[in-house]
Amino acid sequence: MSSLDDYLRQKRTLVDAYLDEALRQCDGCPATLLEAMRYSLLAPGKRLRPLLAILACEACGGRDRDALPAGAAVEMVHAYSLIHDDLPAMDDDDLRRGRPTCHKQFGEATAILAGDALLTRAFEVLARMYPSSVGAECCLELAAAAGAAGMVGGQMDDLAYEGARERLSPVSLQQLEALHARKTGALFRVALRMGVLIAGGSNDLLERFDEYGHRFGLAFQITDDLLDVEGTADNVGKRVQKDAGRGKLTYPGLLGVAESRRRAERLCREACEVLSPLGPAAARLAELARYVVERDR
Ligand code: IPE
Ligand code: IPE
Ligand code: MG
Ligand code: MG
Ligand code: MG
Repeated sequence: MSSLDDYLRQKRTLVDAYLDEALRQCDGCPATLLEAMRYSLLAPGKRLRPLLAILACEACGGRDRDALPAGAAVEMVHAYSLIHDDLPAMDDDDLRRGRPTCHKQFGEATAILAGDALLTRAFEVLARMYPSSVGAECCLELAAAAGAAGMVGGQMDDLAYEGARERLSPVSLQQLEALHARKTGALFRVALRMGVLIAGGSNDLLERFDEYGHRFGLAFQITDDLLDVEGTADNVGKRVQKDAGRGKLTYPGLLGVAESRRRAERLCREACEVLSPLGPAAARLAELARYVVERDR
């Protein structure tokens, strides 16, 4: 088996080529809007969500290329969420993936519309590329994960807590995890779930991957919060040491750095255990979970 790095590089190349192609034909789309969509979508991100869709699909007996449209769809939703997250009305950031944020480059109105267009394009890709039953299931799954009870709901809570922490009663770890499970975890879980569905995996597999994704997502967000405290802008490609000043509800803010790291490691171990009955088919997913808590970008 090739190293995780080689494997991820190879799959990222497939994903990037697919994303590039998916946003090439866009009849009737104004040139500046397409430029802004491509600018954000194709910028050098880690592509974790498409990689998870591919890994889940392969672990359930499917082929990597079958998961590409689902992976692209979730990456489009992710890119839209980042564009909107960076807006002045939200986290007000000027650096993303090592480049100026979309609104810095194209202006706020274009950035909002580029996000809207990526979100809708995601569902178009699913509906076009999969047979009607799988396509409909994926659309339903992605809508639930991205919407008010998923990522958007989590973002709403994130903003509601911001700066209001002194006025609210003390936040429990349970509340913090509920927020992060929706804000960040939902898109990881849906990437995995779509991978399983596309491969025709059983309900048992769907549940296992969902459990893995829940823990993976929380471990990922703890590391994201830790990188804001301990990382460098050069490595992570975005401004660091911003969360505390903005009054964000984060793991290090609530638990401290050392306990947050222990928690991320425990979640990573639990994620691997959930998939261990799958044997070698899940080896890459275990490696990816480890990478996510050890990463510096
Ligand atoms: C950043 O996600 C936003 C969060 C959900 C915390 P990633 O760290 O996966 O961002 P990219 O795609 O690699 O830029
Ligand atoms: C953003 O979380 C999550 C979504 C975009 C849904 P953060 O605000 O922590 O992400 P970064 O740190 O800006 O990437
Ligand atoms: Mg945010
Ligand atoms: Mg942010
Ligand atoms: Mg962050």
